[in-house]
Parts: sequence; structure tokens; C-alpha cells
Amino acid sequence: MLKENIVELLNAQITHETYAAQLYLQMAMWCEERGMRGAASFFRSHVPEEMNHRDKLVNYMVESGAKVLIDAVPAPRADFDNLVEVLRAAYAHEQKVTAQIHHIAATALDEKDFSTFNMLQWFIAEQREELVLFRGIVEHIELTGFTGENGVAMVQMNRYLHRLASGEAHPELS
Ligand SMILES: [Fe+2]
Repeated sequence: MLKENIVELLNAQITHETYAAQLYLQMAMWCEERGMRGAASFFRSHVPEEMNHRDKLVNYMVESGAKVLIDAVPAPRADFDNLVEVLRAAYAHEQKVTAQIHHIAATALDEKDFSTFNMLQWFIAEQREELVLFRGIVEHIELTGFTGENGVAMVQMNRYLHRLASGEAHPELS
């Protein structure tokens, strides 16, 4: 049986992963409303990924005989000044989720819960990939001097994000 504090943290993480899916769907809609199709497809592609994270946690808890409690999910942020702000917020969000995963892993180690610690290795690797991806986007913004204004740079940014979403580009090489 999993310890109570571990079950609490896993249940909270289920809510965090669902929140991430909602946040990326909202960000996609923000982009879609403004005709930023490449950015919208990038965020849309992240929605099922986050739901997959949620399901992995649910499956692990079911296998462990732990009680899954589905909590209310806060409404995601919907107001942004421009696309740069959306992308920076997405990077900040991935940093936050990484810290959450690391906290559960640290607690599992403290509790000598090696099974949960082992399950979390997948999430630790996944978060590392997410941080590489989103940090790459922020570095791309800084390198190109993209301000979020409409124009040629906006079209290029949308092409870049569309290529990232379809796996045609590496975040650090394009
Ligand atoms: Fe996630």
C-alpha cells in the first residue's frame, strides 16, 4: 500500500496535469482567435500529452490499490498581452510542474517508496524534455528579437511552432 502522503501528492498531481491540459487548450484558443495557427497547433498538440500524464498517474494508483480522488480544476489563465507572454507563461508552467514532480520523487525517497520513485523516473525524463522544448522556444524568441507584434516575424514564429508541433524541428536547432 502507498503511504497517505504519497497518495495525497499523486492525487494533487492528477489535478496539476489536468490543469496543464486545460491551460494549453486555453492558450491554443487564445492563439486560434488571433489567427496564430502554428502557435495554436503547438499548444493543441500538448493537450493529449498532459492527459496522458494524468492517465499514467491514475493507472499507477489503480495498480497500487490507492484511492483516486478527482478534485476541482482551477480555471486556467486566459488573458495575455501577446504571444511572447503566452510562450513565456508556458515555459514558467513547465518549470513549476518539474518542481512538483521533483518534490514527489524526493518525498518517495524519504519514505523509501522505491516503487513510486521508480514510476516517477519516466516523469522526470519527460519534464526534462519539456524544459528543453520550452526553454528552446524562449531562447528562439530572444535570438530573433520577436516581440509578439504582427508582421513577418509573427508568420515566421508560427511556422517555427508548427514545425515543433509536428516534430519537424528541434527547438534548439531552428
Ligand atoms: Fe505534464
